[in-house]
Amino acid sequence: MKGVALVAGNGNLDFAKKVAKRLKSRLIKVDARKFSDTETYVRILESVRGKDVFIIQSLSEPVNDNLVELLLLIDAAKRSSAKRINVVIPYLAYTRQDRTNKPGEPVSAKVVAQMLEATKADRIITMDLHSPQILGFFGIPVEHLFSFDLFAHYLKKIKLKNICVVSPDEGAFKKAKDLAEILNTDTALILKHRPKQEQVKALKVIGDVKGKNCIIIDDIINTGGTIESAINELKKRKAKDVFVLATHGIFAKDGLKTILNAKPKEVIVLDTINQKEKNAKNFKVLTASNLFAEAIKRVSQGKRLSSMYKRWVL
Ligand code: R5P
Repeated sequence: MKGVALVAGNGNLDFAKKVAKRLKSRLIKVDARKFSDTETYVRILESVRGKDVFIIQSLSEPVNDNLVELLLLIDAAKRSSAKRINVVIPYLAYTRQDRTNKPGEPVSAKVVAQMLEATKADRIITMDLHSPQILGFFGIPVEHLFSFDLFAHYLKKIKLKNICVVSPDEGAFKKAKDLAEILNTDTALILKHRPKQEQVKALKVIGDVKGKNCIIIDDIINTGGTIESAINELKKRKAKDVFVLATHGIFAKDGLKTILNAKPKEVIVLDTINQKEKNAKNFKVLTASNLFAEAIKRVSQGKRLSSMYKRWVL
């Protein structure tokens, strides 16, 4: 693509390579590594002068290292006279800290947004933010991509019938409702309680799930506790098969194993975070690289992004 330079950090290099391949392009050479004292060093090794630069970096583990690497890459591109800096963050970390729950806490999602802006990024491209208000933390354009079409396409391909889309907590209900609208099917909601951070108890299922193929949808899986507890609750209520869809599979603390032990029919995530256990049984990774590549193409050509989706449900 003429006038465009694709740059990637170590956040999810495989994903960045897939995006470049889909754009029939390549990644600019970058030196990104750690000094012996753990400080981060980056250098963009080719000229990006006057270019529309897209820096691709997922903020998965190690989150803080990847965040700093991204901030430094943005600054390096700025100082190398890039014309415009578009920051492509397939998975944006810290978004669950989008409000204070207890006195004395920060709004960490806003702090991260301010850090990205402070480095003079021109635009953010990301996917399935934890909550829509995070868009308001940025004073620069955020292209917010959605995974609905990717998931809906997959479910249509496996010809699943008699479906109920289940939200594993109150926060994911809009996502469940939007997917159910695309699939023209019912929804159910699980009320979730967290006795402590990273501990989960499903309290109640609202909706009829008996004999249905239940599709749990969430934006993030971390320890897997939310989904494990949701699967158990649906099985207690005699759901038929349980499928799990999540955009960002962090899978901390053996989270994938925790979920698979609860015996879902299938767990399906996107590759916004690099998945080490791609070949695990009943686990599927769909790629979001085509969607991101299309978004990059359209942004570079000054075209609208909304028409990328078959059905605009939001
Ligand atoms: C929280 O509201 C998110 O949408 C996810 O439900 C949560 O991050 C999942 O965490 P875990 O897998 O640790 O239960």
